[in-house]
Amino acid sequence: MCTILAIESSCDDTGASLIHNRKILSNVVSGQKIHERYGGVVPELASRAHQGNIMPVIDSALEIAGVKKEALDAIAFTQGPGLLGSLLVGVSFAKGLALALNKPLIAIDHLSAHLAAHFINEPTPKFPFLCLLVSGGHTLLVKMDSETKYEIIGRTTDDAAGEAFDKAAKVLDLPYPGGPLVDKYAKDGNPLAYPFPEPNIPGLDFSFSGLKTSFLYFIRDNMAKDSDFVNKNMADICASYQHRIVEYLLHRLEKAAKEYNINEIGIAGGVAANTYLRKKIQEKALEKNWHIYIPSFEYCTDNAAMVAMAAHFKYLNKDFAGQDVTAYARYGG
Ligand code: KG4
Ligand code: ZN
Repeated sequence: MCTILAIESSCDDTGASLIHNRKILSNVVSGQKIHERYGGVVPELASRAHQGNIMPVIDSALEIAGVKKEALDAIAFTQGPGLLGSLLVGVSFAKGLALALNKPLIAIDHLSAHLAAHFINEPTPKFPFLCLLVSGGHTLLVKMDSETKYEIIGRTTDDAAGEAFDKAAKVLDLPYPGGPLVDKYAKDGNPLAYPFPEPNIPGLDFSFSGLKTSFLYFIRDNMAKDSDFVNKNMADICASYQHRIVEYLLHRLEKAAKEYNINEIGIAGGVAANTYLRKKIQEKALEKNWHIYIPSFEYCTDNAAMVAMAAHFKYLNKDFAGQDVTAYARYGG
């Protein structure tokens, strides 16, 4: 029997979740609207907001789960990568709580948490499992051999897929985070209206900088001819740009699946909430005979339930952290 409280504070979402014997009992997330007007997450404001949110979020996760703090077997937290000031709020809170309750700590890597989202609901993937992890900070192809053993076989050489969405949205004057808004406008647009070029770099890595630049020039040139171009064509612009990103992601996934001969395939991370990607991967799955796994929306963008799931596996391995554990903003320091 094990009951774990998990805390997520890597970026601009404060999350807390309770897991009991692999079952998620609660998953509370408080987003931060304050960043909208700045066109991106402001680190200083994010850490301040986490400080205000963390107590109520944890209290509400405990209450929804009907669990008393004293009944916890461990406290888990996101260790990194992420914004250091934001991470420190979660790490320090977890350390204080673990000390006060005399319970072990479990440190969770944000990437393994996103992957763990696949093990929350049935059916869970069989191994080897190939996961496309696409978020505001990651664009990775990951080959998983078990719930805790994985290998990165492709990664972005510049921006993450979420950034490619957010930066284009900024050019269109949409508030941060732009990804969900591009998704929304694209629903009424023609994905083939404007042909953006597919990035082309060797191997299984990704690059979004060329696509981003061509988008910027496309908007700039058309706005020079007609200052109402974006307003008049928002749906087609969003649909075409989104189409290119999604096609590109799926082409890479297809290449990796072929090279590694894997047909258990999934997506994870914030961009996995994109409705067009979710639709297109289902079509691809039919064509390629893949078994696909797509976490429910609430487990795609940052949340503490995925942290709790990753912590469950670490708890089984008695993989605990000491009170000297520290957060990391990025891998390697
Ligand atoms: O996983 P996540 O919440 O945080 C990170 O770990 O980065 O991902 C956030 C990213 C943002 O870039 C956001 O624009 C993108 O996920 N995103 C979307 C959608 N929902 C969130 N991008 C495209 N379509 C969506 N529906
Ligand atoms: Zn994330």
